[in-house]
Amino acid sequence: MHAIYEKQPTNSAQAPKSSPTPFPSLPLIGHLYLLRKPFHRALSEISNRYGPLIFLRFGSRPVLLISSPSLAEECFTENDIIFANRPSLLNGKHFGYNYTSIPWSPYGDHWRNLRRIASLDLLSSHRIHTLSRIRTDEIRVLIRKLFRLGEENPGKSVHVKEALFEFTFNALTGMICGKRYFGENVENLKESEIFRDIINETVRVVPDAQEKRDRFMQNVLQELRRLENGDSSVPKSDNAGKKKIIAEVLLDMQKSEPTYYTDEMIRNLLLKLEASPARPAVIASRIVGDCTVGGFRVPRGTILLVNVWHIEIALRFGRTLDNSSPRGFGILKAGKNGCEFLPFGSGRRACPGENLAMRVVALALGTLIQCFEWEKVCEIDMNEGTGFTAPKIQPLTARCCPRPDIVNLLD
Ligand code: HEM
Repeated sequence: MHAIYEKQPTNSAQAPKSSPTPFPSLPLIGHLYLLRKPFHRALSEISNRYGPLIFLRFGSRPVLLISSPSLAEECFTENDIIFANRPSLLNGKHFGYNYTSIPWSPYGDHWRNLRRIASLDLLSSHRIHTLSRIRTDEIRVLIRKLFRLGEENPGKSVHVKEALFEFTFNALTGMICGKRYFGENVENLKESEIFRDIINETVRVVPDAQEKRDRFMQNVLQELRRLENGDSSVPKSDNAGKKKIIAEVLLDMQKSEPTYYTDEMIRNLLLKLEASPARPAVIASRIVGDCTVGGFRVPRGTILLVNVWHIEIALRFGRTLDNSSPRGFGILKAGKNGCEFLPFGSGRRACPGENLAMRVVALALGTLIQCFEWEKVCEIDMNEGTGFTAPKIQPLTARCCPRPDIVNLLD
């Protein structure tokens, strides 16, 4: 039933072959019957069964599933420009300002401009460096919180995910619009409630969500303008008057080019950056032209799925559901263009926030290890549940005890 069907070229060994595809592809649904939750696990099982390059049909849409570093490298280097478009999925309409935001915008002049602004002006190494104070302030808040929890309830375990979530979002919103919306010392509770709703709504379609996000971000822009004009009724952030945060950089750019940097464009960019920490375990882009991958012919309009989870977790650590070794387990090699490490994607559409994300992750991880002794409360369940980011089913809890040096430091 699931035997692999591979059409071989009839006349020449050089001619590109048609891609291997599981049999059968059912009328209307195609291969959708092979899918279940979590999506990346289902795709991983398909790859284990049929190989690292498979041609599928999700309903009427042709899909190419890739799950090896060398094939990913072929897509993102040699064929990168052919794969530079995103599929026009419903998410791009509802969450991507009708396909005009960076992640959803089609490859072309508009995307190139947004991408240049994001990479060179907003997320450059220099900008990230100038905003380091905001990140260190937030990490201090995190250390103090963990320290206090340990003092008040010795031996009680900490919800690591919750603490890191607060830190990550406060650091990010601090750098982007000078606000903190989570945890203690939140200035404006109403505003922070709206922001939480906006973050929760980034994964489900909610009526009027777009207007709500726009209204929220427009208020932030208005406050920054009033602050710049010396309005003393606007509460100042700790960073005020020091280094320019990302929203202020954009408002400055608006002064010199108001027709390009409209409020709508700025809102769109800022909202996208703020909602960026959640990322899927599977990268999707769209093939716009015919091409050949791994010697197989791929027709125009095919959606490319690169199963990063399979490449990073199954191949590296041998994790499958039935404890069998996945195909290719342990043979992960760095490709010549470095496509072995794919959490941030690769090629033209790779994540422009990688530098910032790696700094935030390194700061948090380094600080937590250096400042606290950590102890398991029970065996840690590494299985992941449903959701695009492959979150753990059981969020991590652990006991933490401040190292003696940190106690002196905090005193
Ligand atoms: C650990 C954190 C992060 C991870 C794992 C991550 C991962 C990714 C991945 C896999 C993509 C798709 C790449 C592709 O299609 O090849 C992406 C795109 C993107 N990311 Fe990130 N990201 C992270 C944090 C951030 C941050 C902090 C920002 C900005 C503040 C950001 C902004 C973006 C944008 C704007 C895109 C769309 C790029 C485009 O289509 O041109 N990301 N990210």
